[in-house]
Amino acid sequence: MLTETTSRAPAHRAAATQQEFRNAMARIAATVHIVTTDGEHGYAGFSASAVCSITDTPPTVLVCLNRGSSAYATTVGNGIVCINTLAADQQEMSAAFAGKTPMPERFSHGSWTRCEGYAPALDGAAMSLHCKIIGSSTVGTHDVLLCEVLHIDDRDIETCLLYYQRRYHALSS
Ligand SMILES: Cc1cc2nc3c(=O)[nH]c(=O)nc-3n(C[C@H](O)[C@H](O)[C@H](O)COP(=O)(O)O)c2cc1C
Repeated sequence: MLTETTSRAPAHRAAATQQEFRNAMARIAATVHIVTTDGEHGYAGFSASAVCSITDTPPTVLVCLNRGSSAYATTVGNGIVCINTLAADQQEMSAAFAGKTPMPERFSHGSWTRCEGYAPALDGAAMSLHCKIIGSSTVGTHDVLLCEVLHIDDRDIETCLLYYQRRYHALSS
């Protein structure tokens, strides 16, 4: 049954506050990824939970990237990314790629496979999506990167790392 709720959300109401919004978003459980890039603009990587499927025709995902991130210019300049979905035992990688640390230090964690023309793939990740950035849209502080998936390396790992209520959680199927 639909109840009348318009009185709770009048048109003139201001937007939710930043804190209300952050608290609400903490309720959305999300897998954690290390998004990497490599190319003529150098290499970089950052932790990301804002990754989402758009369509399978053509296979496309979105990644939201803070324009203030030290990884921003390199990622957008190279135009390619590898989205590495973390397994449950890779929490350390998320911390390593979310801090204000230089790129060589970030990549000193874990072991990486580098193929010509692709961004670094993280060994032991549940899967790696090799993508080409085909467009973007700016929303406030972030760019929404539209990424066409060119190659999928699914390692059939039956666990993943979730970020929920500001904490990590291990999930296994
Ligand atoms: C679990 C988690 C999820 C994150 N998700 C995103 C994201 O989707 N997009 C983003 O731009 N930053 C995200 N961040 C923050 C970046 O990883 C972090 O700000 C960045 O790597 C560090 O900024 P810097 O490179 O400028 O030092 C996330 C951090 C954590 C811990």
